[in-house]
Amino acid sequence: MTPLTPEAKKALSARVQFYRDLGIHSFYRRSEAPVAEAHTPEVESTMAKSSSAAKPAPVKVKSLPVLNDLSKTAALDAIRADIGDCTRCRLSKERNQIVFGTGNMDADIMFVGEGPGADEDEQGLPFVGRGGQLLNNMINAMGIKREDVYIANVVKCRPPGNRTPERDECDTCSPFLMQQIEVVKPKIIVALGAVAAKNLLGLNDSMANLRGQIYDFKNTNLAVTYHPAYLLRDPRQKAEAWKDLQMVMKHLGMKVPAGPKNG
Ligand code: URA
Repeated sequence: MTPLTPEAKKALSARVQFYRDLGIHSFYRRSEAPVAEAHTPEVESTMAKSSSAAKPAPVKVKSLPVLNDLSKTAALDAIRADIGDCTRCRLSKERNQIVFGTGNMDADIMFVGEGPGADEDEQGLPFVGRGGQLLNNMINAMGIKREDVYIANVVKCRPPGNRTPERDECDTCSPFLMQQIEVVKPKIIVALGAVAAKNLLGLNDSMANLRGQIYDFKNTNLAVTYHPAYLLRDPRQKAEAWKDLQMVMKHLGMKVPAGPKNG
């Protein structure tokens, strides 16, 4: 293996910290793979760079001015058509179907998760498994329904074995998410978990630091809360997630209910 330069060591250490924040503590090094860079503050740069492919292919997406001339339905259809039967990254090899996103295209709130799991891959819809049931409960606790919000993911294909999507996979897929955001134009995006938060914001920080604030993000706002799958593993954090959702409700001028009646 080629020895790492000091810069590469620093970048690797930032990446290891990124995965530790996600609760991943075992790592392997692919032979002779280029070392990933740390996330940069520029969202555009996270979208443009790829970390592990030897020759990253530029992601081709239809330009938004064209989409802006269309109705929201037609624009979302055009994004979906642009994705097509996507083979832009390795996630296409094992997925059953692309999970584009669903919900109210005029929603004030857009939830963004990490990527489809087994249930989503089977049904073609985001957040329909156990985590999805908890997300529905979280949405209901806000006094609204799942049909009132828009839900999408950073990557649109299920990572094998539900592993965390890799940096280059996120970079390949996120231009489509950015377009979905630009079409839906939610008043606020709620990033569910560290993968969504870090990819959207382009910040490599801990969940503890990322939560608890409203960010300016691409002509809208963004808040970060825990991923439902994490809350299923550690239900004690539900109270913290509820604080995040209350912050979102206050931001939108919604009436803040006392609290979720059940998990
Ligand atoms: N986890 C996610 O991040 N997204 C889904 O759609 C389902 C589970």
